[in-house]
Amino acid sequence: MSIPTLRDVLRNADREHTALGHFNFSELVVLNAVATVARQLGAPVLVGVSEGEREFIGVRQAAALVKSIRDEFGMPIFLNADHTHSLEKAIEAAKAGFDMVVFDASAHAFDENVEETKRAVEALKSVNPDIVVEGEIGYIGASSAIHSSVPPNMSPLTTAEEASQFVQATSIDVLAPAVGTMHGMLKSMASGKESKHLDNHRIAEIKRATGIFLTLHGGSGTDVAELLAGIQAGMNVVHINTELRLAWRRGLQNALMKSPDEIAPYHLLPAAYDEVSHVVRLWLQTFQRSSTAGA
Ligand code: G3H
Ligand code: ZN
Repeated sequence: MSIPTLRDVLRNADREHTALGHFNFSELVVLNAVATVARQLGAPVLVGVSEGEREFIGVRQAAALVKSIRDEFGMPIFLNADHTHSLEKAIEAAKAGFDMVVFDASAHAFDENVEETKRAVEALKSVNPDIVVEGEIGYIGASSAIHSSVPPNMSPLTTAEEASQFVQATSIDVLAPAVGTMHGMLKSMASGKESKHLDNHRIAEIKRATGIFLTLHGGSGTDVAELLAGIQAGMNVVHINTELRLAWRRGLQNALMKSPDEIAPYHLLPAAYDEVSHVVRLWLQTFQRSSTAGA
């Protein structure tokens, strides 16, 4: 059976009111955990590397690793150049064979964001006409880390009007609006005492006004019932990174404490793999059941 394209997978998610999980990686433990859990659940999956993550793992190396998994297992796993701020790095990723680019000029003023994103869409489609390009409106913090307070300069939530204007002016395939989440988690979120919240009424309005695929960034720690309703309202992709980083560290730290004399990575890292797999499984199962939520 042939592997569907990313566009097919997005169309299907939109029709079925499910979401495609997007998980960031910067080394092989997380990538293998995501791919294995997705394969076990029969779920298509997006994996992403931000500029910093791909600087560490390598642009071509990330592309080769994902391609090797797709080819070996015949599974729908797709690679995204997450939060790409420069046109040069966006083109580098497109040339390396990435399936998608999140071109992120959201920290700039609206008009500048429109101009830069429009230029990026044209340039990326000339490298690969099938590449999926996402644009972002609204700055929601920059790093998937544990924060002691809400990051400064967070944008107001995106309006349906500006979303529609942005989509028409840029010809993007996917839009990431600001609808309540932020990148990273507060300490209270990491400990489960507090959750992120979504403005689902706004998501529905943005979906109606734009009619295109929507991505939720800053998914870690979002209230699950609200997220399910957000998917019903039109979210098609959900990004999770901070929760994976936390799980990776927890697993590794436990292994180091349990075996203080162990030095073989392949004896220590399975604990990180297991913790990450657990988080990925919970989220993918949530995204799969979203088609029945709110029915
Ligand atoms: O692009 C990455 C995601 O938006 C990460 O969100 O920091 O809430 O995991 P997160
Ligand atoms: Zn993001």
